[in-house]
Amino acid sequence: MKTDDKLLLRAIRGENAGSPPPVWLMRQAGRYLPEYRELRQKADGFLNLCYTPEYAIEATMQPIRRFGFDASIMFSDILVVPHALGRNVWFEPGEGPRLDPMNIGNALPVFDEDAFHSHLKPVYETVAGLRESLPAETALIGFAGAPWTLATYMAAGRGKDEQEHARKWMFTDPDSFAALIDGLADAVAQYLIRQIDSGAEVVQIFDSWASALAPNAFDRYCIAPTKKIVETVRAVHPNTPIMGFPRGCGASYEQFIRETGVDGVSIDQGMSPDWAANALQPHGAVQGNLDPMHMIVGGDAMKRDVDRIVSALGDGPFVFNLGHGITPQADSANVEALLKHIRG
Ligand code: CP3
Repeated sequence: MKTDDKLLLRAIRGENAGSPPPVWLMRQAGRYLPEYRELRQKADGFLNLCYTPEYAIEATMQPIRRFGFDASIMFSDILVVPHALGRNVWFEPGEGPRLDPMNIGNALPVFDEDAFHSHLKPVYETVAGLRESLPAETALIGFAGAPWTLATYMAAGRGKDEQEHARKWMFTDPDSFAALIDGLADAVAQYLIRQIDSGAEVVQIFDSWASALAPNAFDRYCIAPTKKIVETVRAVHPNTPIMGFPRGCGASYEQFIRETGVDGVSIDQGMSPDWAANALQPHGAVQGNLDPMHMIVGGDAMKRDVDRIVSALGDGPFVFNLGHGITPQADSANVEALLKHIRG
C-alpha cells in the first residue's frame, strides 16, 4: 500500500479517515507485554535493546503482531539524542534514565554531525528494517524528544519533580540555556530528517514536560524550537507529516498548533475532546486522548470514555490514542477490548 493511502497518514494530512478511526497507543511496545519482558532480558540492558536493530525491530513488531494497530512507532528512546551528543546516559534498573547532570552555564560541544549520525546509525537501520517487516497497511512513525524535554533530563540528570533544574537554569543564565535549546533543536531536526530518509512516514516530537513552562518560557523553549525543527525538516521532506505532543500545556495547544506549523497534535487526557474539536481540528489533526488508567481497569468505564472521545473528534481529522504512554501495569486483555470496541 502506498504511504498516502494508509489510514493514519490520511488522518494526519487533514482528511477524515472515516469510521473506525486509525488507532495506535503511545508506548505500545513495553513491559505490559510478556514477550517484551523476555526480549528485554535477552538484550541485557535497555540501551542495548535500543541500539541493536534486530531487537528494536522485534520490540516494535510485537504489538503489531498481537493487536494489528494502524501504526507502529520505532522502538527507541528520546535519550539517545543526548547520548549521541556525548552526554553519559544509562538506565538504572527499576528506576529509569540517568545522565551526568549539566551545570548552569555548561554548553554542548561543537556539533559533530558525522559522529552524531554514526552513533545513531542503529536507529536508522531499525527504521529501514521496519519498512521491510511491517504489514503493508501499517504506518511507520519516527520520533524524537523536543529540546525542552531533553534539556530537563540533561540539566537534572534524571526525571525530576517540576523540572526544577532546567527552570532554575533558564532564569539564572538565559543565554546559555537558549544556546542549549537551540543546539538541541538543530540536532533533533537532523535526526528526524535521517529517520525520514530511512523510511519513517510521519514523525512525532514528544515534549512531555511542556506543562512546566510558564507562558513566556513556553514561547521561547517550546514553540520556537519546535517551529525551527518543523521548518528544517520540511525544507528537506515537505510531504512528511509532523505531529507535536506538548503534553499538559492546556489551552496553549491552540497556540502550538497554529504557530509551530505541525500537521497535528497529540493531546493528553486532561483536555476536553469537545474543546479540541472546536479549537484544534480546524488547524490540523488531533490524536488522543484516553486516560491510560483505562488500560489497567477496562470495562464499561473505558467504553464510555472511548465513545465520548470518538463522538467529539471522529468527524474531523482524528487518530485514536491514549493521553500518555501505556503503563507496565496495563492488562493486554483491555487493549484487545479497546480495539474491539473501536473497530466493532
Ligand atoms: O512503543 C513506543 O512508544 C516506542 C518506544 C518509546 C520508549 N520511550 C521506550 C521506553 C518512546 C516513544 C519513548 C519516549 C520517551 N522516553 C519519552 C517521551 C514520551 C513520554 O512517555 O512522555 C520520555 C520522557 C522518555 C524517557 C524515559 N525512558 C523514561 C522517563 C523512562 C523510564 C520510565 C519507564 O517507563 O520506565 C524510559 C524508559 C523506557 N523507554 C522504557 C521503554 C519501553 C522502559 C524501559 C525498560 O524496559 O526497562
